[in-house]
Amino acid sequence: MRKAWISPDKTHRFWIHRKTAAVGRQPQAIAFIIKRMQPLILLLAGSFQPSGNIPHDAATFLGMHHLPQIIRHSAGVAAEAARLAARFGVDGGQAETAAWLHDISAVIPTSQRLESARGLGIAVLPKEAACPMILHQKLSAVLAADLFSVTDPAVLSAIACHTTLKPGASPLDMLVFIADKLAWDQPGEPPYLSQLQAGLAVSLQKAAAAFLMHLWEQRADLPVWHPWTEAACRDLVGLE
Ligand SMILES: [Fe+2]
Ligand SMILES: [Fe+2]
Repeated sequence: MRKAWISPDKTHRFWIHRKTAAVGRQPQAIAFIIKRMQPLILLLAGSFQPSGNIPHDAATFLGMHHLPQIIRHSAGVAAEAARLAARFGVDGGQAETAAWLHDISAVIPTSQRLESARGLGIAVLPKEAACPMILHQKLSAVLAADLFSVTDPAVLSAIACHTTLKPGASPLDMLVFIADKLAWDQPGEPPYLSQLQAGLAVSLQKAAAAFLMHLWEQRADLPVWHPWTEAACRDLVGLE
């Protein structure tokens, strides 16, 4: 059970998590965990009060920040993620939660992402400092944890590498990475669709490798060639 508490001077908000345990037949409160929110998270939260229903909360929060296109995109990625989860035997709840929150840091403008990441204690790689747009995957994972109380490391991992992937990716990491690419919101078909579908006919790993191959071929023209993507290419595609 989770509840927000706002200090009387309205400068601090805390999440209060009450853990319960069944003692005999009566659930009893056994612990309160009070977590102080970072000033940036507090600022972004505003009057937002999560209900615990991730799709509803994500859409509400993005709506408060006037980002209807991100709501539509996240809903599309969540639908693709649910289909892939059923198809490949991955946990659908984890897949949908990661999908709904993967771009939640769109509420932080690109111009503020580097400063925000450093303020939140995120380790920033040199390539990320040079192209802060790419930090949105790590920022989304922090918001998922601190604002939406996601504690599952597998879900946070999938959010944090949904754009670049990473070496040693889990099936959930690959699933969210692929669902994000399938939820194409531009006119026409994505240029990599047939390669991705051919990969999906075999496995999540083959589909991830197909998209990585697409990235590898155009790596010189990308805004950033991230070291995690390069390492994932070597890991899944065997490129040298
Ligand atoms: Fe993204
Ligand atoms: Fe996305």
